[in-house]
Amino acid sequence: MGEAPETGHSPPLDWPGRLWLDGRTPVQVGDYAGQAEAGRGPMSKAEIPVFHNPAMTGSRTRSVLLLDQCLREDWLTKPGAKIRVLDGLAASAIRSRRWLSEIPTEYAERLRVTAIDADATALAWARANHQSHPPGLSDEVDAEFPMHERGLRILQGDLRARVLEAGWQWVDLDPFGPPTPFLDTVLQGLARVAVVDVTATDTAALCGAAADSARRRYGTMAVVDDLRHDTAMRVLLGHVASVAARHDRAIEPLMAIFDDHHVRVSIIARKSKQEASSFAENIGWRIHNPSNDEIAIGIARGLHPAGESDEPQLSVLIPWDTAPGGSFTGRISGPLWTGPLGKPEVYAKMTAERAVELCALDDKRDGDLVKRLEIPDSTIRDSQRLAAKAVRGLAEVAEVIDLPCTYPVDMVASLYSDITGPPSPTTLAEKLREKGWRAAKDFIAVPAVRTNAPWDVVIATVREIAPTK
Ligand SMILES: C[S@@+](CC[C@H](N)C(=O)[O-])C[C@H]1O[C@@H](n2cnc3c(N)ncnc32)[C@H](O)[C@@H]1O
Repeated sequence: MGEAPETGHSPPLDWPGRLWLDGRTPVQVGDYAGQAEAGRGPMSKAEIPVFHNPAMTGSRTRSVLLLDQCLREDWLTKPGAKIRVLDGLAASAIRSRRWLSEIPTEYAERLRVTAIDADATALAWARANHQSHPPGLSDEVDAEFPMHERGLRILQGDLRARVLEAGWQWVDLDPFGPPTPFLDTVLQGLARVAVVDVTATDTAALCGAAADSARRRYGTMAVVDDLRHDTAMRVLLGHVASVAARHDRAIEPLMAIFDDHHVRVSIIARKSKQEASSFAENIGWRIHNPSNDEIAIGIARGLHPAGESDEPQLSVLIPWDTAPGGSFTGRISGPLWTGPLGKPEVYAKMTAERAVELCALDDKRDGDLVKRLEIPDSTIRDSQRLAAKAVRGLAEVAEVIDLPCTYPVDMVASLYSDITGPPSPTTLAEKLREKGWRAAKDFIAVPAVRTNAPWDVVIATVREIAPTK
């Protein structure tokens, strides 16, 4: 299973710690506060020997579903071919182990997963967990993938050095804080077509609240209003696109999400000098409280719904080459990605049924495991609830995810003195659909509606349903 960790004991010194279920994969974690409690993260990463964050369970569930989709639909390979997957900052390798255990065997057998971490103790726990709770895959040795055990190879080292060793077809990048130290090398270590999943927990920088960090890490600025979650996903996508372009790669977003304390973007990267050269077509700015001229630019470039309205609007996306003059501060967010946040068909398959089927315990299918580990019924129910929660609102937004405009209802209400309270986003979306527009309650962390309805239609509909003077 790879090189022996230099200092990691096997099993680790305080093994077996406590048993925890992440999705439906058992994992032994250190016996510390926040390690085996739903929704709570560790108090401080300095106080625990191996980083395990139960609050990221939902992120790992979505990652299982995305890789499952990729394998079923052969996004990266010929049907049935093996896939080289890198869990780049693996810690206890729980993400790798979940892919191998929860994706149905006929697809999981195609995975060749390498888990890398700099920390020997983390890898000792990863190794002991994989051996104590192995996935139900064959243990045949694959000559092209030496040193693995049931699909998983564990390597110690600095990701930035090791990522260049192979042409990875799938890379997961899940750092503490920003992904910026790793992106440049990761994007050079890819196969011609590859999926890259990038997590960033420095949401204050991506939203613009930590202005110095935003400038230093991403070269961006941002206005912190209720559009900040949409802005943060676009800032991260824009940054990934520009780093990819430097290495002759064009990106296509598959899925973006802002979940509580992190942003995660999943993209497919394709080697193409020509496409990479035109990456700036999807890079631009968000202008807050835009002028009519700025709105006209957005409309002309297909980034804003066409319509006749002289009433004030919340924001407009405009292309990179039309950056307005004057002072940017307080009015401009960007540069950021102005293209679609993801693919409708990817979001559409993020359903509660699918999440529960793959990632929650089932009495019948998992009967042996439930018996062996004496798992109580309440834990089975929790696993079902958490799996469904991980994808809440995602399939609903599939229909509109390609649209550039989202309208946080509190901001809409605050623009006009005759509107005294925000409308319900569900009702607003319904009414807009009745009028023939595409609209859905958005998945950003504040109540909002994503739609292609022009502003005059949005505001007339808000006046029909919101409290007014
Ligand atoms: C947030 S944790 C990863 C959590 C994990 N992906 C999960 O789902 O539980 C980040 C990990 O990155 C590792 N790390 C930090 N810098 C690294 C580097 N340069 N190369 C390899 N691993 C590194 C840390 O040891 C830590 O285990």
